[in-house]
Amino acid sequence: MRSCEVQILGAGAIGSVFGYFLLKSGCDVVFVARGRRYEELRRGLKIEGLVDFFEEVEVSDRPVKSWLTIVAVKSYDTAEAVRGIGKLTDIAMSIQNGIGNEDIIAKEVDRVMGATTNYAANLRDGTVVYAGEGETWIGNWKNCEREVEEVAEIFRRGGMNVRVTERIREMKWRKAAINAVINPLTAITGVRNGEILRNELWNAAELVCDECELVLKNMGIDVNLRQEVKTVVKKTANNRSSMLQDIERGKRTEIDAITGKILEEARKAGIEARVNEALYWIVRALECKMKNSDVRQY
Ligand code: PAF
Repeated sequence: MRSCEVQILGAGAIGSVFGYFLLKSGCDVVFVARGRRYEELRRGLKIEGLVDFFEEVEVSDRPVKSWLTIVAVKSYDTAEAVRGIGKLTDIAMSIQNGIGNEDIIAKEVDRVMGATTNYAANLRDGTVVYAGEGETWIGNWKNCEREVEEVAEIFRRGGMNVRVTERIREMKWRKAAINAVINPLTAITGVRNGEILRNELWNAAELVCDECELVLKNMGIDVNLRQEVKTVVKKTANNRSSMLQDIERGKRTEIDAITGKILEEARKAGIEARVNEALYWIVRALECKMKNSDVRQY
């Protein structure tokens, strides 16, 4: 195998967990981050929860030359983060939530992979809390048929549970639908994922599931969303969803790349998705309410 030089673009909670598995696999990993996260990583990568890990790591505040780039920035930052990286990297793989990131990356990089993951992690005072072991699916997006298995094997060697799929576009939509259920409900009510099953929230979750399922079915994607959401919620019960973490930190959320995309598809198909629409606007209203935030300009 060629020398495994990887950079993690956006080394937040989940990007850092991927970086951890790559380090375990023996790769040379550069963690690319800015601001406070950059300073934290300069003191070392610390992970608690399902593993107890501390190691000094290579950090950069800008993209570097690498064989593989893992893109883990927030969806609304993708275009800016990957601008010009085609000259620096052979392959880029998005592990981001939401729809549209791979197509943005594919404008810059010749070989692109998509991935979905339900590994769960939070950042607490510079420490990554690795809260849930899940499953990661990797697939070719553009010109990567041959490399997909190689990349999957690298992660497996590091101990990550990775599977290869030929239907990554479908997997991305299934994951987006799961996020469209879990993320807004937890962000609005301020609860951990597990609470979705335990209290009245499940009644609301079922309504969101049914609308999203209809939208996906119309796209030819057959899914039992109530069942899939239950499975992910159980596996990540202790996690604070990424959207809840964004709201708690006064940051913009990924509602546009998640619920926003479900709504776009619903509109195209003439499907009413009123519950999703309400959740979309409530999350946008929460973003507006944040005073100390870096949220979008209205
Ligand atoms: O966005 C998230 O938080 C995650 O995708 C997931 C799987 C819902 C776990 O919290």
